[in-house]
Amino acid sequence: MFFPGIAECILLVLTIICSGAAHNILVLTPITTPSHSNVFEPLVAQLADRGHFVTYTGTDYCHQTNPTNRVGNQTTIANSSNLRLLTSPNLVRLNSQHEIDFNDRDSPFRLLFRMPGTLEKYCKAIYEDPVFHWLMNSKERYDLIILDGFSNDCTLLLAEVFDVPFIYLNCFPPTPWLLYAIGSPLAMDHFPNPSGTRDKMDLWQRTFNVVTQVVTGLGGLFIYNWHILPTIDRVASRVLGKHNLTPILDIQSRRLSLLMTNTHFSINFQLPTSPAVVEVGGLHLGGKLKRLPKDLVSFLDGSGDAGFIIVSFGSMLRGDGLPKDFRRLFLSVFARLPQRVVWKWENQSKLGESEELIPSNVKTISWLPQKELLSHRNARLFISHGGLLSKQETIFNGVPAIFLPVWADQPINAQKAEDDGYAIRLCWDELTEEILYNAIQAILTNPRYAKRMQQVSALMQDQIDKPMGRAIYWIEYVIRHQGAPHLRNASRDLMLPQRALLDVMCIFFIFTFSMIYVIYRLCLFCSALYRWKDMMIGLLHKKDD
Ligand SMILES: *[C@@H]1O[C@H](CO)[C@@H](O)[C@H](O)[C@H]1NC(C)=O
Ligand SMILES: *[C@@H]1O[C@H](CO)[C@@H](O)[C@H](O)[C@H]1NC(C)=O
Ligand SMILES: *[C@@H]1O[C@H](CO)[C@@H](O)[C@H](O)[C@H]1NC(C)=O
Ligand SMILES: *[C@@H]1O[C@H](CO)[C@@H](O)[C@H](O)[C@H]1NC(C)=O
Repeated sequence: MFFPGIAECILLVLTIICSGAAHNILVLTPITTPSHSNVFEPLVAQLADRGHFVTYTGTDYCHQTNPTNRVGNQTTIANSSNLRLLTSPNLVRLNSQHEIDFNDRDSPFRLLFRMPGTLEKYCKAIYEDPVFHWLMNSKERYDLIILDGFSNDCTLLLAEVFDVPFIYLNCFPPTPWLLYAIGSPLAMDHFPNPSGTRDKMDLWQRTFNVVTQVVTGLGGLFIYNWHILPTIDRVASRVLGKHNLTPILDIQSRRLSLLMTNTHFSINFQLPTSPAVVEVGGLHLGGKLKRLPKDLVSFLDGSGDAGFIIVSFGSMLRGDGLPKDFRRLFLSVFARLPQRVVWKWENQSKLGESEELIPSNVKTISWLPQKELLSHRNARLFISHGGLLSKQETIFNGVPAIFLPVWADQPINAQKAEDDGYAIRLCWDELTEEILYNAIQAILTNPRYAKRMQQVSALMQDQIDKPMGRAIYWIEYVIRHQGAPHLRNASRDLMLPQRALLDVMCIFFIFTFSMIYVIYRLCLFCSALYRWKDMMIGLLHKKDD
């Protein structure tokens, strides 16, 4: 190839011609974790492939790729002529310090109360970030902003600066404040809050669900909209030194056009949605798989008929952060199994320091190519924390699971999986060797788990279109129709009590009670009238006597 640049150019032009107009799209996820960037990255790549000019501020990329050039303090990684990655070392550092570990299972409320402070810290970092300043002052033009639905709201100031509509892409089941913002039913009678229980709730659970969705909890609508967002506004005007900034809630209310959620009704609890909510769950699936290292391949192939078990607690919970007692428990259960085990264990030297021996059927690796492992024909079981992406990957590949949820939406993901019959949910605090061993045996020997898993996997893949295609369609739709104002639910301008028609019920109550009161007074009056009449008649009779 003499002119790769020209070939690329022609390809790009062809893509643009075939796919309609190319647009400038700004994708903002400065605060992120792998469970979010794993959703965003394939989408960004796909948008760029379609010929759009994409600017992506995601910091996780920096871990995986070597920044190639710097513009001021801002690192630019240009993969192709129409994809620009912006990242800054400060945010990369912040994203790696998420302070979540296995002990957080003890107290979901501790995390909750930490949230306002954490978001304040994130926003301060974003507002001090050179990339953010560069964007704020740049004369660039964009057609749309796509924003991570969790903890990135501070960047909404950019939607105002560029005067564009925006879309939330949420990487886990939608929080009440996102549903409220887009004007979609909260469905609190059956849709559990991300830290809730399940869809079939008794009176007390429903009460708890309403309280957590509206007031407190990871979902706390009131806390989010009327405490956290105003705090962000104050941080913005303090750090940016401007006093006439538009409040975030205002920007959201005027410019939010669509909510895409990484869920699907085949595997998550059902959610009634407005037309402005699009479920794109599993969009990161079905792409090209990476080639596994040779030694790993021979370990997996060598597992034979017994097969192998994959153990990983996600990207945030480090395998080597597992408390010693649990580590010992897992190792002694694995030693009793004929299956081989692949375990995500980041720091090999931390294994050496403990007294127990690693059984010969266990292989620890620092980074798990999870999708690739799950797609291997010998994969029999996945032991995991029940993060949404892990759950999607295991269902996509039809591998039954044992979930040991720790925090956030993991408990409801695990509960739904157990209710659907293809997984077992275990509880860290009740975990014993026997419980874990029995659960593993149940999945490996009772065919009903594998059978249910095949059914659910088929359900998940039986869709009229692919989640990625759906996401792209709706993104371009919003651009084509300049924010798609016709999708806007009029009830977005109403307060929560009005949306729940509490004010109307009030009128009914007042009316009913007034009627009852009037009738009561009338009765009193009538009976007084009767008594008076009787008395008069009595008096008349006396007179006659
Ligand atoms: C960008 O390039 C890096 C390194 O070549 C690669 O790992 C990454 O997947 C590319 N990203 C996209 C979105 O194409
Ligand atoms: C670059 O970063 C340094 C310190 O990290 C700071 O002093 C300087 O002002 C920054 N420059 C720009 C252009 O943001
Ligand atoms: C509009 O919003 C209200 C309140 O959130 C909801 O009950 C209703 O279903 C929504 N309607 C549509 C068409 O989305
Ligand atoms: C791995 O663990 C050892 C021992 O606890 C520690 O000294 C070392 O810094 C760790 N390495 C990494 C990369 O975390």
